Amino acid sequence: MTLTHIVGARPNFIKAAPVLAAIGARGLSQSLVHTGQHYDRNMSDVFFEQLGLPQPDVNLGVKAGSHAVQTGETMIALEGLFTASPPDMVVVYGDVNSTVAASLVAAKLDIPIAHIEAGLRSRDRRMPEEVNRLITDQLAALLLTPSVDGNENLVREGVDPSKIHLVGNVMIDTLVRLQPKAEAHWPALAEAHGLSDGAYILATLHRPSTVDDPGVLARVLATMGRLGGRAPVLFPVHPRTRQRIADAGLAVPEAFSLVDPVGYLDFLALQSHAQLVVTDSGGVQEETTYLGVPCLTVRENTERPVTITEGTNELVGFDMDRLERLATRVLDGEPVKGGRPLLWDGKAGERIADVVEAWFAERAGG
Ligand code: UD1
Ligand code: UDP
Repeated sequence: MTLTHIVGARPNFIKAAPVLAAIGARGLSQSLVHTGQHYDRNMSDVFFEQLGLPQPDVNLGVKAGSHAVQTGETMIALEGLFTASPPDMVVVYGDVNSTVAASLVAAKLDIPIAHIEAGLRSRDRRMPEEVNRLITDQLAALLLTPSVDGNENLVREGVDPSKIHLVGNVMIDTLVRLQPKAEAHWPALAEAHGLSDGAYILATLHRPSTVDDPGVLARVLATMGRLGGRAPVLFPVHPRTRQRIADAGLAVPEAFSLVDPVGYLDFLALQSHAQLVVTDSGGVQEETTYLGVPCLTVRENTERPVTITEGTNELVGFDMDRLERLATRVLDGEPVKGGRPLLWDGKAGERIADVVEAWFAERAGG
């Protein structure tokens, strides 16, 4: 039995690492395909190195493009690959264009799909990732969910419950494994960026809804600039966002450090020691919840509601007065709310390997 894992973008690498390790340890044969959706060293290679991922067997080199171009080129390349050497299962992660492209190709070649991080829903179809999630979950044979809301969403959409397995959060597996290594990076980071423990804001923004509208982006940056008067703001900036700031000719406020995206270990250390994180990232909402660090999310909705109901996250939408008010409360020392959701315990990869093994065993027996 051969499994082919498909990864393409930064969050995929972090999710795939524990699954590859757990399935590899069971002796199942597997291969890793990188679509090349992300390609800068600090958006791709650094994660392979720091997470101990095997080098991809193939890199499709797809890179950037419109949704149709990026998805279409990935599909064409994957169809060739899967036709030449069909795997017994394709494993896809999260909600990026590489995920839906691989799912469409596998489904039409009748190759079973396992979807890691199934069932999440923002209920906002203006978000490209929501479209990717809906399609991928309709096509998957195994839907591996990170939280109970994922199971509920899938059942509501008519997915056969026997395909759905609550396994917990694989992103947290990687965090748990690498937290001690990340911690060793803190002293050098504090020195390099002039940061004190628990006395700075970490920002990350890259969603089209936040950064593609120059008016919204300008207001968010101005608000972060004002917050910078209270505590230094460190902003490792995603390439999409850097491009949008340049296109709009926006000035970066003082007290606001704009740096290139940082590797996983640095970013984990920076989250762990921050007083506040301001983000629109999916994964960062989850990691701050696990770490117990206050998180303000610049979005109108989230596909990760447990980070609000059980964790440290709050939605601020695009209401900049609300962002400033809630951030000020945190900076004034408001007690941190929240705990860790069920099965966010570092063992999701093992549970996924159990489900996959059982699925193959059942088919071999039948
Ligand atoms: C993608 C995902 C998003 C995810 C994010 C993680 C989709 C639809 N979106 O968004 O869900 O949250 O990755 O970071 O799949 N670029 C570079 N170097 C790189 C990668 C990108 O310069 O290594 C630039 C390119 O100019 C590109 C832009 O960033 O046009 C956007 O990249 P793309 O992969 O299309 O979307 P993301 O915004 O990264
Ligand atoms: N991350 C990182 N370096 C950075 C910013 C983020 O390593 O400069 C990590 C972060 O810790 C999390 C993941 O990238 O594990 C989140 O990915 P991203 O925000 O790109 O995508 P999303 O989760 O929104 O799809």
